[in-house]
Amino acid sequence: NPELMEKIVSLCKRRGFIFQSSEIYGGLNSCWDYGPLGVELKRNVKNAWWQSVVYERDDMYGQDASILMHPQVWHASGHVEGFSDPLVDCKKCKHRFRQDHLEDSTKCPDCGGELTEARQFNLMFKTFLGPVEDSASIVFLRPETAQGIFVNFLNVATTMRSKIPFGIAQIGKAFRNEITPGNFTFRTREFEQMEIEFFVKPGTDDKWLDYWKEERFHWYVKYGIKQEKLRLRQHAADELAHYAKNCYDVEYEFPFGWSELEGIANRTDFDLSQHAKFSKKNLSYFDEQEKSRYIPYVIEPSAGADRSTLAFLVDAYDEEEERVVLRFHPYLAPIKVAVFPLMRKDGHPEKAREIERMLRPHFHTDYDEAGSIGKRYRRQDEIGTPYCITVDQQTFEDQSVTLRDRDSMEQIRIPISRLLPVLQERLNG
Ligand code: GAP
Repeated sequence: NPELMEKIVSLCKRRGFIFQSSEIYGGLNSCWDYGPLGVELKRNVKNAWWQSVVYERDDMYGQDASILMHPQVWHASGHVEGFSDPLVDCKKCKHRFRQDHLEDSTKCPDCGGELTEARQFNLMFKTFLGPVEDSASIVFLRPETAQGIFVNFLNVATTMRSKIPFGIAQIGKAFRNEITPGNFTFRTREFEQMEIEFFVKPGTDDKWLDYWKEERFHWYVKYGIKQEKLRLRQHAADELAHYAKNCYDVEYEFPFGWSELEGIANRTDFDLSQHAKFSKKNLSYFDEQEKSRYIPYVIEPSAGADRSTLAFLVDAYDEEEERVVLRFHPYLAPIKVAVFPLMRKDGHPEKAREIERMLRPHFHTDYDEAGSIGKRYRRQDEIGTPYCITVDQQTFEDQSVTLRDRDSMEQIRIPISRLLPVLQERLNG
């Protein structure tokens, strides 16, 4: 349903969720900027992830590694030699394609022209460290955050005195010079990943893979994605990345088809063994209980912050006869509550401002006095605000306001003194 995607892209621009990057210069292909509402939504998605995988567990540590890393990292990880896609050019119109994305790999899908033989195109962005641009100063923009975790395995294990099984979680930017980016923020060249490397004893890896695929699937459901729009798909042998023994993707049914949100892979001891070999450091772990030394196996749940934000947006989008509504889970909603004065006179704005000031330290709160009350409700529905509060004449008689629910559109009357606990219960509940 391409029309639905167009509507969502247009709502994102119109209401300040997502803008084209460098728009006043005509934009930069596949780069996007999160506006005032988008930055809140994406931050809430990342916080929901961190909450679930770090704060709610006693076997996970956070970290934040630098984007630029020692170039040897990417030789050890196999990315310099193997992180590439097959690229073909059309001899006639000169358009470029990823061969494995084409239905017919002999003909150009745009003009029907003949295609060249495929050549391997490495997806890593290169730059130079320091003022001299020579081969000795080449560094890469990381194509996955994972390697920043592997190279810190010993640091975390030692400083935190962590016992296997344990994991390290990280959120950060990654860069890939994708041949065919597209579908809005789904495939871009700069994106954010939310990755876990979970270190386990060899032999327990299959069990932990099963555990993490279920755990991660249910996280999307918990934060509101309809279960029938989600599925777990196991990779076929020829799809597996060079480091993986087994892998499941969490897929979402976007308007452009079923597509990957997250991969949960069994990376075995591939990365730690490679880094041990290249760095000549001992990256094995001594298991006190078992009195044995081994290189841990790694289960890696690797999610995209932009992709999951897009999935939460698409899934929340709903059209009714009179309104468009984003039915975000309250935790993800960019604005939690909006306060309106019914009229722009008779003390209504002052009272509404007072309530706004009371709520602001607790929730991201909006104030709006422009246009009819119906229009103001519609504006909040369209950005997914769960609750609206209106000050009216009765407020001055009995110190009560109306509280309107986004989904049911029901309004109840509630004393101002009860607003904070009621909202806390409903929003944080
Ligand atoms: N460390 C493993 C890894 O990077 P991946 O399947 O290549 O595995 C993990 O990437 C996740 O990162 C994907 O499931 C997706 O959510 C996100 N991702 C990957 N490439 C992306 C791109 N070009 N644009 C947006 N998100 C991307």
